[in-house]
Amino acid sequence: MNVSPTVRPVTVPEFCAAKSQGRKLVVVTAYDYTSAYWCDAAGVDALLVGDSLGMVVQGHAHALPVTLNQILYHTRCVQRGTRHALIIADLPFLTYQVSTAQAVRSAGKLLKYGGAHAIKLEGGVRMAATIQACVRAGIPIMGHIGLTPQAVHQLGGFRVQRNREQLLADAHAVVQAGAFALVLESIPADLAAEITAAVPIPTIGIGAGPHCDGQVLVFHDLLGLYPNFQPKFVKRYAELGTLIKNAIETFCQDVRSGTFPTAQHSYL
Ligand code: KIV
Repeated sequence: MNVSPTVRPVTVPEFCAAKSQGRKLVVVTAYDYTSAYWCDAAGVDALLVGDSLGMVVQGHAHALPVTLNQILYHTRCVQRGTRHALIIADLPFLTYQVSTAQAVRSAGKLLKYGGAHAIKLEGGVRMAATIQACVRAGIPIMGHIGLTPQAVHQLGGFRVQRNREQLLADAHAVVQAGAFALVLESIPADLAAEITAAVPIPTIGIGAGPHCDGQVLVFHDLLGLYPNFQPKFVKRYAELGTLIKNAIETFCQDVRSGTFPTAQHSYL
C-alpha cells in the first residue's frame, strides 16, 4: 500500500471536536480490506464495521444472525486497509444485552483483537448502565437510537421513530453514560435537529435529515451494490452493481468467443 508518512489515524477526541469546530463528519460502513482501503483513501472520518453486514454481505433479511466472531473477522480485514479513519465496530445482537460484564468483554475483544478504536451499540435509556461500564473500562462508545435494527421485531419493522420524549430521554441517557458520539437512525429531520442542538457530542444521522453533525451510509447502498430494497434516505453516488454486471457479461462473452485471453495476457 502506498501510504504517506504524514497520514495518522483520526482519534476519538478529534472526532468529537468536529462538532464545536462546525465540521461535518463522514462515516461509511466497511466490511473488508478493499472497501476500507478506498473509503480511507477518499478521506472519510470513520469506518463503521456495522452489523448491516448481515444483510449486504451475508444476505440475511436483518442483522440478528451476525455473531461477535464475524464482526471480529471483518474488523481485522478493515483494519488492514485503513490508515487514517477511526474504526468503529458494531456489537451484534445478544453480545451485550445480557449483562454489563458481557458487554465489556465483547467490546473489549473487538478493541484488543480486532484493531477497532471504538464500539457502537444500540439503545438509549435501557443501555445507559452498559455504556457506562464500557466507558469505565476505557472503551469509547458510540450510541445508536431511533430505529435500532436489532429491535426490528419489537418495533414491528424498519419504521421511522417519532416518540419525541423517548428519543430526547434516550439521547440524554447516552450522553450521561459517557458516549462520545450518537447515531440517529430514521428520525424526522426536525426532531434530529432538536436532539443535535441538545447534546454536546456529535450526532451521526442515517435517515435523520440534514441537521445532524455528520452522516453515515452503508457502503453497498451508497454505491448501488445492494440489489434489494432501497430506503428513502439513501442517495446512490454510483451504480456499481450495473457496472459489475456489464463487466462480467463482457468477460463471459470474451471467454466464450475465444477473444480472451490473448497473447498479451499469456506467458510466452
Ligand atoms: O450496522 C450498520 O451499518 C449501522 C449503520 C447503518 C448506522 O448500524
